[in-house]
Amino acid sequence: MDSIHALESLAPDLEKGLSQASSLQELEELRVAFLGRKGKLAQIMASLPQIEPDKRPLVGKKANEIKEKLGALFDARKAFLDKAAEEAALSRFDPTVPGRAPWRGTLHPITLVMSEVVSILENLGYDVATGPEVETDYHNSEALNMPKDHPARDMQDTLYISPSVLLRTHTSPMQVRSMLARKPPLAVIAPGKVYRRDSDLTHTPMFHQIEGLLVDRGVSFADLRGTLTALVRQIFGADTRVRFRPSFFPFTEPSAEVDISCVLCKGAGHVNGEPCRVCKQTGWVEILGCGAVDPNVFKAVNIDSEEWTGFAFGMGVERIAMLKYGASDLRMFFENDIRFLHQFR
Ligand code: DAH
Repeated sequence: MDSIHALESLAPDLEKGLSQASSLQELEELRVAFLGRKGKLAQIMASLPQIEPDKRPLVGKKANEIKEKLGALFDARKAFLDKAAEEAALSRFDPTVPGRAPWRGTLHPITLVMSEVVSILENLGYDVATGPEVETDYHNSEALNMPKDHPARDMQDTLYISPSVLLRTHTSPMQVRSMLARKPPLAVIAPGKVYRRDSDLTHTPMFHQIEGLLVDRGVSFADLRGTLTALVRQIFGADTRVRFRPSFFPFTEPSAEVDISCVLCKGAGHVNGEPCRVCKQTGWVEILGCGAVDPNVFKAVNIDSEEWTGFAFGMGVERIAMLKYGASDLRMFFENDIRFLHQFR
């Protein structure tokens, strides 16, 4: 009965070894020594053939019991060591250390300027209208008093989709769409994307404009002046001076371009004795185009120009954003450099 005795002594031996094992590696060494292919249990089992045949089942049964017991001892010790390791790790965890702040996105500067201008004009009573970027030549040019051979068409490099369908070159076709959709009086603004075959330092093939149109009885150029002065002073500050310069647009008569006093030098033309880089020393920067709605445009949309009068204006959003934020390169708005975008909160 030596084998039985030997088997029975395995468990206390292992227990003793385990109680001194403090790492997974020591645990593994013990496992190999006791349960491995050439371990203590295997060695005892190897002597089975020398045992009297009628005793063999008893020894075999005992061996299985012991094997199971040894396994349980290993599991218990492993669980104990794992738990101790976890507790040690937890004791190094400091719940009072501030967490890492999650990344917060920001609105794009163009979106910010666009919504600022839109909300100022909404407060003045304008409704927002949106329309197609893929536009007909009729809405984009013809109804705006630019017939096919009109030289004004050369002013804009148009991206054509077919001879009569194009990517709108300005938001002005929304004047036509608004007047076809609604009877006057009306006050509409149309913010959106426009496209031109143009790409250099100061031009991108896609940019944004905001169009304004007001049609009512007895609208005068003074109303236009008042509206635009209020608008630019809310955008650029109450001390901003405004200048209307005679200009030409086919869809307005008379037409004007509006300048504001330079946002950088405040009209002085120089900053700290240096020539102002924003206004090139003129003291003024151009900001938008406008005018009284041309009777030919009213005619195209069946509005009686004897009864109704109106004004329209159109501005480039990127231009306003550059002036407002002092950005010197238009391309910054389209490169999506996180370091640039992140400054606009
Ligand atoms: N559509 C013109 C452009 O893209 C801007 C413009 C000028 C719009 C005068 C107007 C206006 O409504 O009255 O250059």
